[in-house]
Amino acid sequence: MKHTILIATLLITLAGCSSTAPVAFMRGSDVAAADQAPDTKQYSERAPGTGSPELIKRTFSTQPPLIPHAIEKYLPITLDENDCMDCHITDEFKGKKMPRMGDSHFSKTRKEEDGTPAVNMVRWQCVTCHVVQADAKPLVENTFVGNVAK
Ligand code: HEC
Ligand code: HEC
Repeated sequence: MKHTILIATLLITLAGCSSTAPVAFMRGSDVAAADQAPDTKQYSERAPGTGSPELIKRTFSTQPPLIPHAIEKYLPITLDENDCMDCHITDEFKGKKMPRMGDSHFSKTRKEEDGTPAVNMVRWQCVTCHVVQADAKPLVENTFVGNVAK
């Protein structure tokens, strides 16, 4: 009796293994197929302070805010030149209120020649933390809801 059960189990297991359902590849094509280049994404082309700009809502506290405008004209940021600062050193742009870099971005010790606080060099490469946006759909389903509570 014991043997019969054992053989039956074995046969069921073997039948399961030899099932011919096609394998679903996560990359959407056969392993041997050549890689497809991803689509080229279009980054925002809207100049700062134009149109009906809206700041992008933050999704967690301490998040570096995302850049809602085009930045190509202001890159690269070099040791001597940082065009982002032309605007973000103040809180006004063409007579309108705009986001000024917070105190966290300035050195506590170093000053400019005119006595104003100098930017902390850890914050000099703005685009290490702040990133420009493209209209891209998520590649996989994402249930992240964020939490801005402090
Ligand atoms: C010509 C002025 C100007 C320049 C140069 C500029 N910005 Fe802006 N930036 C703005 C204005 C105005 C806004 C407010 C929203 C808008 O109009 O797009 C803004 C918004 C932002 C925000 C969103 C802040 C928040 O609280 O949500 C970030 C981050 C930012 N800019 C980063 C940068 C970086 C990094 C650079 C350089 C690569 C840069 N900006 C260059 C004017 C400028
Ligand atoms: C090391 C990461 C980092 C770098 C580099 C950085 N930032 Fe930020 N930034 C942040 C974070 C985090 C915040 C959120 C508030 C805070 O901590 O001050 C922020 C906030 C801001 C804001 C919104 C102001 C506010 O008080 O909420 C502006 C505008 C901004 N940064 C501009 C810049 C510019 C321009 C540069 C380059 C000169 C820069 N940042 C470099 C991390 C960074």
